[in-house]
Amino acid sequence: MKCASGEVHVWRIDLDCVARTVAALKATLSPEEEQRAARFRSIELRERWTVARGALRCILATYAGCEPGALVFREETHGKPALTWPVEDIPFNLSHTDGLTLVAVAGHGRVGIDAERVRPEIEVEDLSRRFFAPAEASEILALSPDARLAAFFTCWTRKEAFVKALGGGLSVPLNSFRVSIQSDQPARLIWAEGEASGRWNVLDLSEPGVAAALVVEGPTPELRRMNFVPPS
Ligand SMILES: CC(C)(COP(=O)(O)OP(=O)(O)OC[C@H]1O[C@@H](n2cnc3c(N)ncnc32)[C@H](O)[C@@H]1OP(=O)(O)O)[C@@H](O)C(=O)NCCC(=O)NCCS
Repeated sequence: MKCASGEVHVWRIDLDCVARTVAALKATLSPEEEQRAARFRSIELRERWTVARGALRCILATYAGCEPGALVFREETHGKPALTWPVEDIPFNLSHTDGLTLVAVAGHGRVGIDAERVRPEIEVEDLSRRFFAPAEASEILALSPDARLAAFFTCWTRKEAFVKALGGGLSVPLNSFRVSIQSDQPARLIWAEGEASGRWNVLDLSEPGVAAALVVEGPTPELRRMNFVPPS
């Protein structure tokens, strides 16, 4: 599999699998990954993380041209995973929400992805005022109560995807940049401290009940979406 420069591939992984599939994906994990999986308190969370990491290995192995278990990962300063072997230059990122993981692979440039199951009970007003840029919070809170929830999750996932593309994690203040929010506007980074906003692309990947966004650096990419089919 090749992800050409100018392309971005998004893989959808269903984490709730039959036991045989969980076992096949578990067999691809490194001893450190198995230890990490073992630290989850519930079997459901342990198996979901195992499936997500095993699927990530299977997906990246098709680009790297090796066995899934042979890949070697490292973590950047703020925890963003990257490959060190057999190649280092496959930009990727992933996000989990409930029983779903999305993996993005870019042909070129930094990439970040975020998915969040839409939760109606979330404190939209409080979180918007605390975390988002003032203009984003005002925009969300000016909407009708019905529209606010969707706008909040749109904003959240676009912002998280940008932070994840940068790799800075929680060290990047969420009010140091602004994204577009409203459904009748193109998805985009409006401004960001210390960044040329025009070099970043924001793509909306939302589906019913799940808000999701992808941010990728460089010229506008061509998006391909694929479903991960686990080994039998
Ligand atoms: C870790 C963080 C990068 C994303 O966390 P998250 O949204 O809770 O989780 P996601 O499922 O989307 O992403 C987790 C994956 O991102 C990757 N990741 C970890 N650190 C990363 C970083 N610094 N940059 C990019 N990706 C990172 C990992 O692959 C991780 O999966 P893994 O643990 O299975 O390897 C961080 O930005 C965070 O904790 N954000 C939450 C901030 C928040 O609460 N905001 C409230 C807004 S209202």
